[in-house]
Amino acid sequence: MSIKAKDLLSIDDISTEEIAVIMQNAKSMKQILQRDIKKVPTLRGKSVINLFYENSTRTRTSFELAGKYMGADVVNISAGTSSVKKGESMRDTARTIDHMSADVIIMRHHESGAHKILAESVNARVINAGDGKHEHPTQALLDAFTVLEHKETVEGLKIAIIGDILHSRVARSDVLIFNKLGADVWFCAPPTLMPSKASELGATITYSLEEALQDADIVITLRLQLERQDSGFFPSIREYTNFYGLNTKNIKWARPDCLILHPGPMNRGIEISYEAAELPNAVINEQVNNGVAIRMALLYIMGGGRSGDTV
Ligand code: CP
Repeated sequence: MSIKAKDLLSIDDISTEEIAVIMQNAKSMKQILQRDIKKVPTLRGKSVINLFYENSTRTRTSFELAGKYMGADVVNISAGTSSVKKGESMRDTARTIDHMSADVIIMRHHESGAHKILAESVNARVINAGDGKHEHPTQALLDAFTVLEHKETVEGLKIAIIGDILHSRVARSDVLIFNKLGADVWFCAPPTLMPSKASELGATITYSLEEALQDADIVITLRLQLERQDSGFFPSIREYTNFYGLNTKNIKWARPDCLILHPGPMNRGIEISYEAAELPNAVINEQVNNGVAIRMALLYIMGGGRSGDTV
């Protein structure tokens, strides 16, 4: 089983049925992760390249481990230590990697849409590990997988995505996947951190944290992306935290069994309090573990893994 599209650049590249297949495979991959020896030969002889033009801990490491756990040869390229520093274009870098017979190229890039140029330039299959403010589809897959480990279905759940929506590729991929799965998705941010056409993305818009959290089944708090902001989005970080920071008091507006997610890295004490991040219903560490399982599933499906070799 593969997915029809050559590349995974957006959640829109995969159907609801294909999402279900990825989730099913990720369940099997989690069994491998729980083993003492986390190694299968499924991707032996395949090569996976991590091409990162932006910093990452979770995404890059989990793709690297996912590939290695499945027997692939994995190479990491950071823009800062590659020939990109000598002025090589992204397209030429990609073609160079492609001519080394890469099977899958995973790229993170600061420019929204950079992956489309990459995908059109190479024979390898391309997975988007985050492009600018556009999308982060593998994060959305692991978020949905994490929710489905706790809830029978996503259909009908109220999912509140709170924080810096304007700069968030996670919000854009999450709204796509959770809408495909039948959820009621809300965006909550100060007006200056809400995209001008946010409602066209398929979420209900509110500027009130109380309204967003009221009866929510799932809360996804987003990192305040200070590195993508000029000044003037809000008067001060303290004020932002007062109005939009999740804490152990305001989470009580949500349903008692509400799950708390955060894609990481967290600014503890800004968009989420230290205590809220440690509540029993906070599944932030589970998201990290599920990130490896989802990426193993994707590499298996897109890298041409041999069936029967998985678990
Ligand atoms: N969630 C996420 O993309 O984290 P990293 O930037 O650490 O990869």
